[in-house]
Amino acid sequence: MAVYLLLLGGPGAGKGTQADVLCQEFQLPHVASGDLFRDNLKRATPLGQLAKQYMDRGELVPDDVTIKMIRERLQQPDAKNGALLDGFPRTVPQAQALDALLAEFGGKVTTVLYIKVGETALLDRLSGRWICRGAQQHAYHLLFNPPKVAGKCDVDGTELYQRADDTAEVQARRIKVFMEQTAPLISFYQQRGELREVDGEQSIQAVTEALRAGVKAATAK
Ligand code: AP5
Ligand code: MG
Repeated sequence: MAVYLLLLGGPGAGKGTQADVLCQEFQLPHVASGDLFRDNLKRATPLGQLAKQYMDRGELVPDDVTIKMIRERLQQPDAKNGALLDGFPRTVPQAQALDALLAEFGGKVTTVLYIKVGETALLDRLSGRWICRGAQQHAYHLLFNPPKVAGKCDVDGTELYQRADDTAEVQARRIKVFMEQTAPLISFYQQRGELREVDGEQSIQAVTEALRAGVKAATAK
């Protein structure tokens, strides 16, 4: 059966950082809604232009648009054995739509990995983050995870930049939106016995270790 892993966590919790490692290890494509919107923006598609209006303010892109994009992505051949979803779902209607979509494919959510990080640490991480211009959008941190060569991605050598939504004002809005619209998913998945909470305020390697153990336990069932 296909494996669908969900990474849940506030802005800057480390979803993208951890997804890079887990996807390699479990041979799953990394399906990140934020990365897909940024890729559309780079290519100046109508979807990118629409998403930008919301992303620049730290608001969520409307559910119907986001669900359609994820549906199309999960139908790609590389996702036939499953995917690691990063940043989707982010609302209860998105979670319900995902259930329906996976049921259509004959699958279901395998496990939900919640990376728990407090607000102060989230802000410290976002304010020092630089990401690469490559397709994978690798994340670095000036203090916690610096690149080997300043300003360049270790993996693909592309230039590093700061995201437009990483200003102090938009960071605060994104955290508020997470608390109001996405945090309800914690109890949504907890009630179904699908949530695994991991302490995200440990080193990157320690968080990876905890997530890896969670995936192994869920896939061994
Ligand atoms: P998205 O791109 O998903 O942003 P986000 O959820 O705000 O999360 P981030 O990507 O900022 O953080 P992350 O958890 O990936 O952390 P990272 O690994 O980079 O979404 C952006 C926007 O798109 C949304 O605001 C919305 O507008 C729209 N959108 C996206 N999905 C949507 C959806 N489903 N519905 C509607 N709208 C949607 O790490 C952060 C930093 O911390 C890095 O510098 C990293 O090096 C460092 N770090 C990571 N782990 C650790 C650690 N353990 N210790 C120390 N430092 C660490
Ligand atoms: Mg991310």
